[in-house]
Amino acid sequence: MAGRSALETYKQGGSWWETEISDIKKNEIIIRGKRIEDLIGNISYSQMLYFLLCGKELTDNQAKLFESVLVAGADHGPRAPSIAAARMAATCGVSFNSAVATGVNMLGDVHGGAVEDAMALLYETERIQLKNEHAVADKLSELLESGQKLPGFGHQLHDNDPRVQRLYELSHLLIESGEISGNYLRILEDYRGTISSIKNRRFTINVDGISAAVQCELGVPAEAAKGIFSLSRGMGIVAHAYEERKNGTLIKGPCPNEEKLVRYTGKRVEESEQS
Ligand SMILES: CC(C)(COP(=O)(O)OP(=O)(O)OC[C@H]1O[C@@H](n2cnc3c(N)ncnc32)[C@H](O)[C@@H]1OP(=O)(O)O)[C@@H](O)C(=O)NCCC(=O)NCCS
Repeated sequence: MAGRSALETYKQGGSWWETEISDIKKNEIIIRGKRIEDLIGNISYSQMLYFLLCGKELTDNQAKLFESVLVAGADHGPRAPSIAAARMAATCGVSFNSAVATGVNMLGDVHGGAVEDAMALLYETERIQLKNEHAVADKLSELLESGQKLPGFGHQLHDNDPRVQRLYELSHLLIESGEISGNYLRILEDYRGTISSIKNRRFTINVDGISAAVQCELGVPAEAAKGIFSLSRGMGIVAHAYEERKNGTLIKGPCPNEEKLVRYTGKRVEESEQS
């Protein structure tokens, strides 16, 4: 019940928390109407995630595709802020879960956030397309004119990201079997073609873009994207934090301890104070 006051509900004899997700009683754990013992051993991690979040079940192939998104985003090495932060925290002697949380907490609008923006854009474009056949061109002009980037496109390092190609291949198998519609992948491709012709150069879809389209195909809510990415990148964060902890290296700081790497831009010491 959106916007309910827990206190008011409680005063009127209702309960403090309301959930459609789980019902926990002594020796009984029900998740979305199914006994936990029937889920354990029968559904995969990605099926469980989707079932918890959306209350619906994915087919085995859909679950495999969703899991592929989780695998694709798992790691991008210590130059990625989330991995670097977790490794740095691990060198500072914090507890292991704190190091992991430090990495996860680096995920935001700039790092790891493009999936949510791209999903929101793809969902909105699909809705607008019902009335406007130029929805892609119109939305793109709106974004560019307001100085925004097209989420899910471009990369500082890759111009032929292997993750993108592989997720495309896997998605196409499900379009052929009718397990996803392919609508959002087509819209994504439409954006790629349109921005490439506007900017007069080849634009690449990045891993966030393809992950967004795949998750839209599966009906994942855009608002959940950063949480889902935390679970995906969380795997890499755990591995990197563990490696750093195991190596036992003492604090190295965010960069080598060289003066030229940090420029002081504040006030200079005044002449009289120097002497
Ligand atoms: C990832 C990103 C920051 C890389 O930016 P970059 O290093 O500047 O990329 P490039 O050097 O290839 O950019 C060259 C030009 O293309 C533009 N450009 C790059 N990506 C763009 C995008 N997604 N939408 C619109 N224009 C874009 C840049 O603004 C720049 O324009 P300019 O020459 O007129 O200044 C950028 O592509 C971006 O912000 N993408 C959208 C967000 C996103 O998907 N992030 C997830 C990355 S995995």
